[in-house]
This record gives sequence, structure tokens and C-alpha cells, in this order.
Amino acid sequence: MQIEHQSGEYRNVACDMLIFPVFEDETAGSPALRSLDKAAGGMVHSALASKEFKPELYNRWRLHNPGGLRARSLLLVGAGKKTDFTPARLREIAGTGVRTARSSFSGSVVFLCRGIQSPSLAARVAAEGALYANYESDLYKTRDRDEKDVKKFRILIDRKAAGREIEEDIRRGIEIGEATNFARTLANEPANILTPSRFAERALEEGSRAGLALRVMERDEMEKLGMNALLAVSRGSDEPPKMLVVETPAAAGNGRKRKPAYGLIGKGVTFDSGGISLKPSEKMEDMKADMAGGAAVLGAMVALARLGTRMPIVGLIPLVENMPGGRATKPGDVVRSFLGKTIEIINTDAEGRLIMADALYYARKMGARRILDIATLTGACVVALGHVNAGMMGTDRKAIDQLRKNCDTTGEGLWQLPICDAYRREIRSEIADMKNVGNRWAGAITAAKFLQEFTEDVPWVHLDIAGMDLDHDGRPFACKGATGFGVRTIVQLMESL
Ligand code: BES
Ligand code: ZN
Ligand code: ZN
Repeated sequence: MQIEHQSGEYRNVACDMLIFPVFEDETAGSPALRSLDKAAGGMVHSALASKEFKPELYNRWRLHNPGGLRARSLLLVGAGKKTDFTPARLREIAGTGVRTARSSFSGSVVFLCRGIQSPSLAARVAAEGALYANYESDLYKTRDRDEKDVKKFRILIDRKAAGREIEEDIRRGIEIGEATNFARTLANEPANILTPSRFAERALEEGSRAGLALRVMERDEMEKLGMNALLAVSRGSDEPPKMLVVETPAAAGNGRKRKPAYGLIGKGVTFDSGGISLKPSEKMEDMKADMAGGAAVLGAMVALARLGTRMPIVGLIPLVENMPGGRATKPGDVVRSFLGKTIEIINTDAEGRLIMADALYYARKMGARRILDIATLTGACVVALGHVNAGMMGTDRKAIDQLRKNCDTTGEGLWQLPICDAYRREIRSEIADMKNVGNRWAGAITAAKFLQEFTEDVPWVHLDIAGMDLDHDGRPFACKGATGFGVRTIVQLMESL
């Protein structure tokens, strides 16, 4: 999709569809709607007055061949209340417009940005939303792919804004949008295609093109280092484990290596069968996306590199397949982690925390001054927060506050859960330093307490994105399937530092 800035009056722009957001609390008599109504021959006023179109969030109403416009059709999209409006909503409305355009094979659309003070931010999120909406999860359909794609998306800003600057903001939106879609594709890929090895290869391709430095650690090196928690998970699979190490140019340096200001760690279980603690078969296919945290880290790193970040950041993605093979780890097995702490593995389906534990310690060894990890870690988090917010836990107060503030812009919901020390007792083991599961209760928190054991004193945030990685219902602004959750959150956090 080609995305560009459009200057001038919306009346004079030729396209298949003009997308015009309308607020619930704006009256048909407002100057903006009056002039639109005039161009549309009175049809806007009558649609609003008759309630044929109610501008509630995501509602749509379409007018063909509006006489006073050069657009072939006009699409009004409900934007909800002006007082609740955020950049995240503008992104979703741009996306809702693009999805509607797709369904009517409208290849060229113009989007009018309204309601956001900063033209810069408006242009960026509109570009992100358009790319997000133009994406389809139909990777393996052999017919009719791409034919609905919107080919040309032009962004018109509702106020005077410098052209050059807007072009740059749009470029930023494109980088973030494309990186998000890259992460979605990785999570949508079935596990027979996207094995740990293939994930690493795809990362090398995409990452080096973006200017990142990448390295893949193989099993023998992990064995030498003693990453036995990670290795315990991959034992049951015929697919070899990989540890992907991704660095921004500032972290990779030219001989003059700088300590990473941030370590980003993403869970990369390319398929989670549960292992010997086998999962029930219902919805087991969703576990192909158990590497969504890893995909988010990789996507964010690609975006940051393309945006020219000067921050030294290291991304670590432990990649494994969790399978119940003949040599698989068994409940009750004890392993010594990379850090040296011993773990009694009670449940082989609590594998994410095992691979994350060794990656967390590796980030610390590399000298990361702060750490963020992102993982589809627990079903308990889905029970607690549903598909609306990811669980956020950790010791880095400043990052947690910043992340929470960013939600209005990223549109990715985060909600903090407590991790006070009273929860630690749930993972005490009789035989080892800790066990890998707690009891029935507060499962998202006891998982975080387990991870905390491996971060020790480094300021750390943990995002549990189970429940956010896949969307089974579809949204007005997105297809069903992988969401790429976390890419925007990570990019925005790194940029706000
Ligand atoms: N990958 C799952 C968590 C998950 C569940 C992600 C649902 C997305 C949707 C994780 O590895 C897991 O199986 N966790 C167990 C932990 C339990 C054994 C303590 C769970 O949540 O049931
Ligand atoms: Zn599991
Ligand atoms: Zn898992």
C-alpha cells in the first residue's frame, strides 16, 4: 500500500472513497459537518437527523456519488465522544475505513484526520492503522489473495501543517505498521513452517536488512553455558533450540561495544503442546502463536532500527518447541538454571518461564541496565483480564507508569497486577530452590514471581500477553488472527526514554 500526505481541500481530491470521522457529540450544524453536508447535497444532515447514521464508535454510513465531492463515495465513520478521543481511536477509525474500502474493492482512499491536536501524531497513527487494517491472515489461501487491497491511502490533515514534517511522520507510521504486520505474520505461521530454526532464519533476513546485528546461539553453546532450564523445554522435540540475539547498531558498536540500556526478552515457543503435561486438544492449535512475545520483540527491534534509534538495545528471543518426546522433561525433574538456581519442574506446560529465566539471566550478563520481557505466559492472565488488557508486573516503577500512560496512543491495553513478596511462597520447592508452578490461584502473578528470581536487582517489567496475541472475533479495523500486540508498546517505550 502506498501511503502519502495529501494537501488541500477534501472536496477537490479524486479517489474511490473519502473517509470522514464524525463525533457523537458534534451536531449536524457544526461548521465542519455543515460544509460536508453542503458538498453531499444535504444527505449528511438527513442521515444524522433520521438516525440512519449514529456516530457511535466504529459505526459506518456510506454515500455513493456525492455530487459536490470528487470522491466516488463518502464514508462516515463514527468516532465516539470527542471527550474520549485518543490517538489510538484515530488509528482504529482509519483502520475501520480501510476495512470498509477493502470490502467494496475501493483501491484508492483518502482519510481526513480529525480530532487530534498534533498533526504529526495524527498522521503517524493514521498510517499505522491503514497498514494494520489492510493486512489479511490468509497466508496459505491459494485464491483471491490481495485483490481487495487498498493500493493508495492518502492522509489529509484537518489543519495547516508543514508538508515535509508530515511526510516524515507518515514514514514513521509506515515503519511501525509494517513491523507490526511482520510480527503478525510470524505468529500466524503454522508451527510446521515456523520452527525455531525458521524463526531464526526469518529474523536474520528481516533484521539484517533493517540494519540490526544478529546472532543465533546453537544448542552446544547453550550446553556449555549451562542454560539447562531452556534446554529442559526443548528436550522433547526433534527441532533444535535457538537463542536469537538481536542488537541495535549502538549496542553492537564497532568494536566499541556499549552496555545495553535495555534488554528486551520475548518468549519464542513455536509450538506449545504442553510437553508430558500435555494440553487438552481443544484450541491447542492456538499454541502456534506461543512465540508472539518473541515476534513482538523482533518486530519492535526492526522498527527501531529503521527509525534510526541511537539507543543501545539488545533483544533476546529464546526459541524452542515444547513437545512430549521420549527424552522429554518429566514432572518432578530438577534442573540447574543458567543463573545457578535450581528448579523443580512440576508441570512441563509451564515452559515459558523456564526459557525466559535463562534469557533473563543472559540479558543481565550482557550488562542490560533495565529489562522488559513479553510472553504469552499464563492462561490465568486471560482469566483475570480477558482479551482487553495484558498483565503488567515488575519492579521498574518508572517504566510501568510510562507504559500505562502510553496506552492512549498505542491502543494496546496494559493493566498492572501486584507482585508483593507474599506470593513468593507459592513457588517454594521441597527439593530445589523453587518449583515452576504455584497452586491454582494468582497464576499470572506466581509466574511473574518465578521470573523475578532471575532479574534480581535489575529494574524489570513483565508483560503477560496471553489472550492478546490472537483475536478470534475480528474487529472493525482488523482481520482475525495474530494481533502483533506489543510492537507499538515497545517502540513507544523506547522512544519515550
Ligand atoms: N502458552 C501457555 C499460556 C497460554 C494460555 C497462552 C492461553 C495463550 C493462551 C503457557 O505455556 C501455559 O501453558 N501455561 C500454563 C501454566 C500452568 C501449567 C501453571 C497455563 O496457563 O495453564
Ligand atoms: Zn505451556
Ligand atoms: Zn507456552
